[in-house]
Amino acid sequence: MLLRDALLHVRREVLLPHAYVRVSGPGADPIVWRLLDGTHPEDRQEWLELIHSDESILIQRDGEALDALGRGPVTGGHMTSMSTYTPLTVEALQAMALGPGQRYLELGPGPGVSLALAATITGPGLATGVERDTHMAAFAQRNLDRLGLGAAVVEGDALEGHEPRAPYDRIHSGIGVPRVPHAWVDQLARGGRLLTTLATRTPSWPGHLLATRTPAGTVEAVLRGRRRGYRPLLGYRWLNAVDYRARVTADPGTARPTRLAPPPDDAYGFWLAAAYLAPGLVRDFQPTTMTVVAPEDDSWAVAGPGNGTVRVHGPRDVWAELEDVHARWEAAGRPKRYHVELRDGSGTQHVTSGTGPKALTWTLPPLALVPRQAP
Ligand SMILES: C[S@@+](CC[C@H](N)C(=O)[O-])C[C@H]1O[C@@H](n2cnc3c(N)ncnc32)[C@H](O)[C@@H]1O
Repeated sequence: MLLRDALLHVRREVLLPHAYVRVSGPGADPIVWRLLDGTHPEDRQEWLELIHSDESILIQRDGEALDALGRGPVTGGHMTSMSTYTPLTVEALQAMALGPGQRYLELGPGPGVSLALAATITGPGLATGVERDTHMAAFAQRNLDRLGLGAAVVEGDALEGHEPRAPYDRIHSGIGVPRVPHAWVDQLARGGRLLTTLATRTPSWPGHLLATRTPAGTVEAVLRGRRRGYRPLLGYRWLNAVDYRARVTADPGTARPTRLAPPPDDAYGFWLAAAYLAPGLVRDFQPTTMTVVAPEDDSWAVAGPGNGTVRVHGPRDVWAELEDVHARWEAAGRPKRYHVELRDGSGTQHVTSGTGPKALTWTLPPLALVPRQAP
Protein backbone atom coordinates (compact mmCIF):
# COMPACT_ATOMS: atom_id res chain seq x y z
CA MET A 1 0.00 0.00 0.00
CA LEU A 2 1.18 3.55 -0.67
CA LEU A 3 1.69 6.16 2.04
CA ARG A 4 -1.25 8.16 0.75
CA ASP A 5 -3.57 5.17 1.09
CA ALA A 6 -2.10 4.32 4.49
CA LEU A 7 -2.96 7.84 5.74
CA LEU A 8 -6.58 7.23 4.78
CA HIS A 9 -6.60 3.68 6.11
CA VAL A 10 -5.18 4.10 9.66
CA ARG A 11 -7.92 4.91 12.17
CA ARG A 12 -6.42 7.59 14.36
CA GLU A 13 -9.31 7.46 16.82
CA VAL A 14 -8.17 3.97 17.89
CA LEU A 15 -4.55 5.06 18.42
CA LEU A 16 -5.36 8.40 20.06
CA PRO A 17 -8.43 7.67 22.24
CA HIS A 18 -7.78 10.72 24.42
CA ALA A 19 -5.85 13.98 24.05
CA TYR A 20 -4.52 16.66 26.36
CA VAL A 21 -5.08 20.29 25.48
CA ARG A 22 -2.84 22.94 26.99
CA VAL A 23 -4.92 25.57 28.77
CA SER A 24 -2.24 27.89 30.20
CA GLY A 25 -0.07 30.15 28.04
CA PRO A 26 3.72 30.05 27.35
CA GLY A 27 5.97 30.15 30.40
CA ALA A 28 3.18 29.19 32.88
CA ASP A 29 4.37 27.11 35.81
CA PRO A 30 2.66 24.84 36.71
CA ILE A 31 1.01 24.20 33.37
CA VAL A 32 -2.75 23.67 33.28
CA TRP A 33 -4.06 20.97 30.93
CA ARG A 34 -7.46 19.60 30.02
CA LEU A 35 -7.97 15.97 29.08
CA LEU A 36 -10.42 15.21 26.28
CA ASP A 37 -11.95 11.74 26.44
CA GLY A 38 -13.00 10.57 22.99
CA THR A 39 -15.78 8.41 24.39
CA HIS A 40 -17.44 11.28 26.26
CA PRO A 41 -20.24 13.03 24.33
CA GLU A 42 -19.19 16.50 25.54
CA ASP A 43 -15.59 16.01 24.39
CA ARG A 44 -16.21 14.02 21.25
CA GLN A 45 -16.45 16.76 18.63
CA GLU A 46 -13.44 18.71 19.88
CA TRP A 47 -11.41 15.49 20.23
CA LEU A 48 -12.31 14.32 16.70
CA GLU A 49 -11.31 17.66 15.16
CA LEU A 50 -8.07 17.70 17.11
CA ILE A 51 -6.91 14.16 16.32
CA HIS A 52 -7.71 14.64 12.62
CA SER A 53 -5.84 17.94 12.44
CA ASP A 54 -2.11 17.96 11.63
CA GLU A 55 -1.26 18.82 15.24
CA SER A 56 0.88 16.76 17.56
CA ILE A 57 -1.56 15.04 19.96
CA LEU A 58 -0.49 15.15 23.60
CA ILE A 59 -1.07 11.73 25.16
CA GLN A 60 0.96 11.15 28.32
CA ARG A 61 1.99 13.30 31.28
CA ASP A 62 5.06 12.37 33.35
CA GLY A 63 5.06 8.71 32.31
CA GLU A 64 1.60 8.11 33.83
CA ALA A 65 -0.46 4.91 33.44
CA LEU A 66 -2.84 5.32 30.51
CA ASP A 67 -5.69 2.94 31.22
CA ALA A 68 -7.79 4.98 33.67
CA LEU A 69 -7.33 8.68 32.92
CA GLY A 70 -10.08 11.03 34.08
CA ARG A 71 -11.38 13.72 31.71
CA GLY A 72 -11.28 17.41 32.58
CA PRO A 73 -8.72 19.89 33.94
CA VAL A 74 -5.45 18.82 35.52
CA THR A 75 -2.57 20.93 36.80
CA GLY A 76 1.18 20.38 36.59
CA GLY A 77 3.54 17.94 34.94
CA HIS A 78 5.08 17.76 31.49
CA MET A 79 4.21 15.78 28.41
CA THR A 80 6.36 12.70 27.97
CA SER A 81 4.62 11.30 24.90
CA MET A 82 2.61 12.59 21.99
CA SER A 83 1.96 11.80 18.34
CA THR A 84 4.06 13.62 15.77
CA TYR A 85 2.95 16.62 13.73
CA THR A 86 1.57 14.85 10.63
CA PRO A 87 3.57 16.71 7.93
CA LEU A 88 6.77 15.70 9.72
CA THR A 89 5.71 12.04 9.76
CA VAL A 90 4.84 12.20 6.06
CA GLU A 91 8.18 13.83 5.26
CA ALA A 92 10.02 11.13 7.22
CA LEU A 93 8.21 8.17 5.66
CA GLN A 94 8.68 9.65 2.19
CA ALA A 95 12.39 10.31 2.76
CA MET A 96 12.81 6.67 3.70
CA ALA A 97 10.97 5.46 0.59
CA LEU A 98 9.28 2.76 2.63
CA GLY A 99 7.74 -0.04 0.59
CA PRO A 100 5.86 -3.34 0.91
CA GLY A 101 7.79 -6.29 2.29
CA GLN A 102 10.45 -4.21 4.02
CA ARG A 103 11.58 -4.87 7.60
CA TYR A 104 10.94 -1.65 9.53
CA LEU A 105 12.22 -0.57 12.95
CA GLU A 106 10.92 2.52 14.73
CA LEU A 107 12.71 3.91 17.76
CA GLY A 108 10.37 5.67 20.23
CA PRO A 109 6.99 4.95 18.59
CA GLY A 110 4.92 6.61 21.35
CA PRO A 111 1.20 6.08 20.60
CA GLY A 112 2.16 4.36 17.36
CA VAL A 113 0.74 6.58 14.60
CA SER A 114 3.83 6.48 12.39
CA LEU A 115 4.37 2.80 13.28
CA ALA A 116 0.80 2.02 12.17
CA LEU A 117 1.32 3.89 8.89
CA ALA A 118 4.55 2.02 8.31
CA ALA A 119 2.98 -1.37 9.14
CA THR A 120 0.16 -0.63 6.71
CA ILE A 121 2.77 -0.09 3.99
CA THR A 122 5.16 -2.96 4.82
CA GLY A 123 2.47 -5.57 5.51
CA PRO A 124 1.97 -7.61 8.70
CA GLY A 125 4.78 -8.96 10.87
CA LEU A 126 7.45 -6.58 9.56
CA ALA A 127 7.12 -3.37 11.62
CA THR A 128 8.58 -3.17 15.14
CA GLY A 129 8.75 -0.27 17.62
CA VAL A 130 11.03 0.07 20.68
CA GLU A 131 9.46 2.22 23.39
CA ARG A 132 11.11 2.95 26.73
CA ASP A 133 7.99 3.84 28.68
CA THR A 134 6.22 0.73 30.05
CA HIS A 135 2.73 2.23 30.02
CA MET A 136 3.11 3.74 26.57
CA ALA A 137 4.47 0.49 25.12
CA ALA A 138 1.44 -1.47 26.44
CA PHE A 139 -1.03 1.24 25.39
CA ALA A 140 0.37 1.39 21.83
CA GLN A 141 0.48 -2.40 21.47
CA ARG A 142 -3.14 -2.73 22.63
CA ASN A 143 -4.36 -0.09 20.18
CA LEU A 144 -2.28 -1.41 17.28
CA ASP A 145 -3.69 -4.89 17.93
CA ARG A 146 -7.18 -3.43 17.62
CA LEU A 147 -6.22 -2.22 14.15
CA GLY A 148 -4.97 -5.71 13.26
CA LEU A 149 -1.90 -4.44 11.45
CA GLY A 150 0.55 -7.01 12.77
CA ALA A 151 2.86 -4.36 14.27
CA ALA A 152 4.84 -5.11 17.45
CA VAL A 153 5.92 -2.73 20.22
CA VAL A 154 8.68 -3.96 22.53
CA GLU A 155 9.68 -2.22 25.72
CA GLY A 156 13.31 -1.16 25.73
CA ASP A 157 15.85 1.59 25.23
CA ALA A 158 15.83 2.82 21.66
CA LEU A 159 19.57 3.40 21.79
CA GLU A 160 20.04 -0.39 21.65
CA GLY A 161 17.78 -0.83 18.60
CA HIS A 162 16.22 -4.32 18.58
CA GLU A 163 18.70 -7.04 17.76
CA PRO A 164 16.29 -10.05 17.70
CA ARG A 165 14.58 -8.92 14.48
CA ALA A 166 17.62 -7.30 12.81
CA PRO A 167 18.64 -6.50 10.14
CA TYR A 168 16.13 -3.85 9.05
CA ASP A 169 15.59 -2.35 5.61
CA ARG A 170 14.35 0.86 7.20
CA ILE A 171 15.19 2.35 10.61
CA HIS A 172 13.22 5.39 11.66
CA SER A 173 13.95 7.18 14.90
CA GLY A 174 11.01 9.10 16.35
CA ILE A 175 13.38 10.72 18.86
CA GLY A 176 16.31 13.07 18.45
CA VAL A 177 19.75 11.75 19.42
CA PRO A 178 23.05 13.65 19.69
CA ARG A 179 24.78 11.10 17.45
CA VAL A 180 23.80 7.86 15.75
CA PRO A 181 23.95 4.92 18.19
CA HIS A 182 26.20 2.23 16.74
CA ALA A 183 23.49 -0.44 17.30
CA TRP A 184 21.34 1.30 14.68
CA VAL A 185 24.13 1.24 12.12
CA ASP A 186 24.93 -2.39 12.94
CA GLN A 187 21.25 -3.37 12.50
CA LEU A 188 20.82 -1.66 9.13
CA ALA A 189 20.53 -4.13 6.22
CA ARG A 190 22.44 -3.77 2.96
CA GLY A 191 20.53 -1.38 0.73
CA GLY A 192 18.76 -0.06 3.85
CA ARG A 193 17.98 3.50 4.96
CA LEU A 194 18.10 5.07 8.40
CA LEU A 195 16.51 8.40 9.32
CA THR A 196 16.89 10.29 12.58
CA THR A 197 16.82 13.78 14.00
CA LEU A 198 20.17 14.87 15.40
CA ALA A 199 19.38 16.83 18.52
CA THR A 200 21.63 19.42 20.10
CA ARG A 201 20.94 21.33 23.29
CA THR A 202 18.98 23.86 21.22
CA PRO A 203 15.47 23.04 20.01
CA SER A 204 15.71 25.83 17.42
CA TRP A 205 17.79 24.22 14.67
CA PRO A 206 17.27 20.47 14.29
CA GLY A 207 19.17 18.38 11.77
CA HIS A 208 17.83 15.39 9.85
CA LEU A 209 20.33 12.64 9.17
CA LEU A 210 19.65 10.14 6.41
CA ALA A 211 22.05 7.20 6.21
CA THR A 212 22.10 4.51 3.57
CA ARG A 213 23.96 1.24 3.53
CA THR A 214 25.07 0.50 0.00
CA PRO A 215 24.59 -2.99 -1.48
CA ALA A 216 28.35 -3.39 -0.99
CA GLY A 217 27.91 -2.74 2.76
CA THR A 218 29.43 0.73 3.29
CA VAL A 219 27.39 3.43 5.06
CA GLU A 220 26.94 6.96 3.72
CA ALA A 221 25.14 9.66 5.68
CA VAL A 222 23.91 13.16 4.89
CA LEU A 223 22.81 15.78 7.41
CA ARG A 224 20.49 18.67 6.55
CA GLY A 225 18.99 21.42 8.68
CA ARG A 226 15.22 21.52 8.93
CA ARG A 227 12.58 23.71 10.53
CA ARG A 228 11.21 20.87 12.63
CA GLY A 229 12.58 17.72 14.11
CA TYR A 230 11.64 15.07 16.64
CA ARG A 231 11.94 15.81 20.32
CA PRO A 232 15.06 14.37 21.94
CA LEU A 233 15.10 11.11 23.85
CA LEU A 234 13.52 10.97 27.31
CA GLY A 235 15.45 12.86 29.95
CA TYR A 236 17.37 15.13 27.54
CA ARG A 237 17.43 18.73 28.71
CA TRP A 238 16.76 21.36 26.08
CA LEU A 239 17.75 24.98 26.55
CA ASN A 240 14.81 27.34 26.94
CA ALA A 241 14.63 30.95 25.76
CA VAL A 242 11.05 31.72 26.74
CA ASP A 243 12.00 31.98 30.43
CA TYR A 244 14.25 34.91 29.45
CA ARG A 245 11.64 36.85 27.52
CA ALA A 246 10.74 39.33 30.27
CA ARG A 247 14.39 40.08 31.08
CA VAL A 248 15.35 40.50 27.42
CA THR A 249 12.44 42.87 26.87
CA ALA A 250 13.41 44.91 29.94
CA ASP A 251 17.10 45.05 29.01
CA PRO A 252 17.89 44.09 25.40
CA GLY A 253 21.55 45.12 25.94
CA THR A 254 24.06 47.57 24.50
CA ALA A 255 23.65 48.58 20.86
CA ARG A 256 26.56 48.16 18.46
CA PRO A 257 26.86 48.09 14.67
CA THR A 258 26.83 44.76 12.84
CA ARG A 259 27.36 43.75 9.23
CA LEU A 260 25.33 40.62 9.70
CA ALA A 261 21.65 41.07 8.88
CA PRO A 262 19.55 38.47 10.74
CA PRO A 263 19.89 35.36 8.58
CA PRO A 264 16.57 34.06 7.25
CA ASP A 265 14.87 31.24 9.14
CA ASP A 266 15.27 28.93 6.18
CA ALA A 267 19.07 29.34 5.96
CA TYR A 268 19.06 25.86 7.51
CA GLY A 269 22.62 25.04 6.52
CA PHE A 270 23.84 28.04 8.51
CA TRP A 271 21.64 27.50 11.56
CA LEU A 272 22.59 23.85 11.73
CA ALA A 273 26.29 24.77 11.72
CA ALA A 274 25.60 27.39 14.42
CA ALA A 275 24.02 24.74 16.66
CA TYR A 276 27.41 22.99 16.79
CA LEU A 277 29.96 25.78 16.23
CA ALA A 278 28.30 28.31 18.59
CA PRO A 279 26.81 25.82 21.06
CA GLY A 280 24.46 26.59 23.94
CA LEU A 281 22.31 29.11 22.04
CA VAL A 282 18.55 29.03 21.68
CA ARG A 283 16.23 31.27 19.75
CA ASP A 284 13.08 32.96 20.96
CA PHE A 285 11.08 33.25 17.74
CA GLN A 286 9.62 36.78 17.70
CA PRO A 287 7.80 38.34 14.74
CA THR A 288 9.98 41.43 14.17
CA THR A 289 13.34 40.92 15.85
CA MET A 290 15.78 38.05 16.12
CA THR A 291 16.45 37.13 19.75
CA VAL A 292 19.13 34.57 20.51
CA VAL A 293 19.85 33.61 24.14
CA ALA A 294 22.71 31.73 25.82
CA PRO A 295 20.74 30.72 28.95
CA GLU A 296 23.68 29.12 30.76
CA ASP A 297 25.83 32.24 30.29
CA ASP A 298 23.18 34.84 31.07
CA SER A 299 23.81 36.42 27.66
CA TRP A 300 21.67 37.36 24.68
CA ALA A 301 21.50 39.32 21.43
CA VAL A 302 18.56 41.12 19.86
CA ALA A 303 19.01 41.97 16.19
CA GLY A 304 17.03 43.59 13.42
CA PRO A 305 14.97 44.18 11.67
CA GLY A 306 17.79 44.90 9.22
CA ASN A 307 18.90 48.27 10.57
CA GLY A 308 22.60 47.44 10.93
CA THR A 309 22.63 47.32 14.72
CA VAL A 310 22.43 44.59 17.28
CA ARG A 311 21.95 44.76 21.04
CA VAL A 312 24.08 42.44 23.11
CA HIS A 313 23.93 41.63 26.79
CA GLY A 314 26.10 39.58 29.14
CA PRO A 315 29.56 38.08 29.26
CA ARG A 316 29.15 36.08 26.06
CA ASP A 317 28.88 38.09 22.83
CA VAL A 318 26.34 35.80 21.22
CA TRP A 319 26.09 37.88 18.06
CA ALA A 320 29.86 37.98 17.50
CA GLU A 321 29.82 34.18 17.58
CA LEU A 322 27.03 34.06 15.00
CA GLU A 323 28.89 36.61 12.83
CA ASP A 324 31.94 34.37 12.95
CA VAL A 325 30.01 31.17 12.07
CA HIS A 326 28.23 33.04 9.27
CA ALA A 327 31.53 34.24 7.75
CA ARG A 328 32.90 30.70 7.89
CA TRP A 329 29.69 29.30 6.39
CA GLU A 330 29.94 31.77 3.49
CA ALA A 331 33.60 30.94 2.95
CA ALA A 332 32.66 27.25 2.82
CA GLY A 333 30.23 28.02 -0.05
CA ARG A 334 27.01 28.33 1.98
CA PRO A 335 26.54 24.55 2.38
CA LYS A 336 22.99 23.23 2.71
CA ARG A 337 23.98 19.66 3.46
CA TYR A 338 26.82 18.00 5.30
CA HIS A 339 28.44 14.63 4.99
CA VAL A 340 28.62 12.54 8.18
CA GLU A 341 31.16 9.80 8.64
CA LEU A 342 29.48 6.92 10.50
CA ARG A 343 31.84 4.12 11.19
CA ASP A 344 30.36 0.83 12.26
CA GLY A 345 31.31 0.38 15.90
CA SER A 346 31.77 3.18 18.38
CA GLY A 347 34.17 5.44 16.43
CA THR A 348 33.95 9.22 16.38
CA GLN A 349 31.31 10.71 14.07
CA HIS A 350 32.66 13.61 11.99
CA VAL A 351 30.55 16.11 10.06
CA THR A 352 31.98 18.03 7.12
CA SER A 353 30.65 20.37 4.44
CA GLY A 354 33.18 19.15 1.88
CA THR A 355 36.90 19.05 1.32
CA GLY A 356 39.54 21.78 1.49
CA PRO A 357 40.75 24.13 4.22
CA LYS A 358 37.56 26.24 4.25
CA ALA A 359 35.18 23.33 4.80
CA LEU A 360 33.07 23.51 7.94
CA THR A 361 33.66 20.55 10.21
CA TRP A 362 32.65 19.38 13.65
CA THR A 363 32.36 16.21 15.67
CA LEU A 364 29.08 14.84 17.03
CA PRO A 365 29.05 14.57 20.83
CA PRO A 366 29.24 11.10 22.37
CA LEU A 367 26.01 9.55 23.67
CA ALA A 368 27.60 9.16 27.09
CA LEU A 369 27.59 12.94 27.54
CA VAL A 370 23.86 13.30 26.88
CA PRO A 371 22.56 15.68 29.52
CA ARG A 372 19.75 13.49 30.82
CA GLN A 373 17.47 14.22 33.75
CA ALA A 374 16.29 11.43 35.99
CA PRO A 375 13.24 9.94 34.22
C1 LIG B 1 6.95 11.83 20.11
S1 LIG B 1 6.75 10.12 20.48
C2 LIG B 1 6.71 9.47 18.83
C3 LIG B 1 5.38 9.60 18.20
C4 LIG B 1 5.19 8.84 16.91
N1 LIG B 1 6.11 9.30 15.87
C5 LIG B 1 3.75 9.02 16.44
O1 LIG B 1 3.49 9.84 15.56
O2 LIG B 1 2.88 8.34 17.01
C6 LIG B 1 8.36 9.73 21.10
C7 LIG B 1 8.39 8.55 22.05
O3 LIG B 1 9.75 8.21 22.26
C8 LIG B 1 9.85 7.60 23.54
N2 LIG B 1 11.26 7.61 23.94
C9 LIG B 1 12.00 8.67 24.34
N3 LIG B 1 13.26 8.26 24.65
C10 LIG B 1 13.30 6.92 24.41
C11 LIG B 1 14.30 5.94 24.51
N4 LIG B 1 15.55 6.24 24.91
N5 LIG B 1 13.99 4.67 24.16
C12 LIG B 1 12.75 4.33 23.71
N6 LIG B 1 11.74 5.22 23.63
C13 LIG B 1 12.02 6.49 23.95
C14 LIG B 1 8.94 8.46 24.40
O4 LIG B 1 8.50 7.72 25.56
C15 LIG B 1 7.79 8.78 23.43
O5 LIG B 1 6.72 7.89 23.63
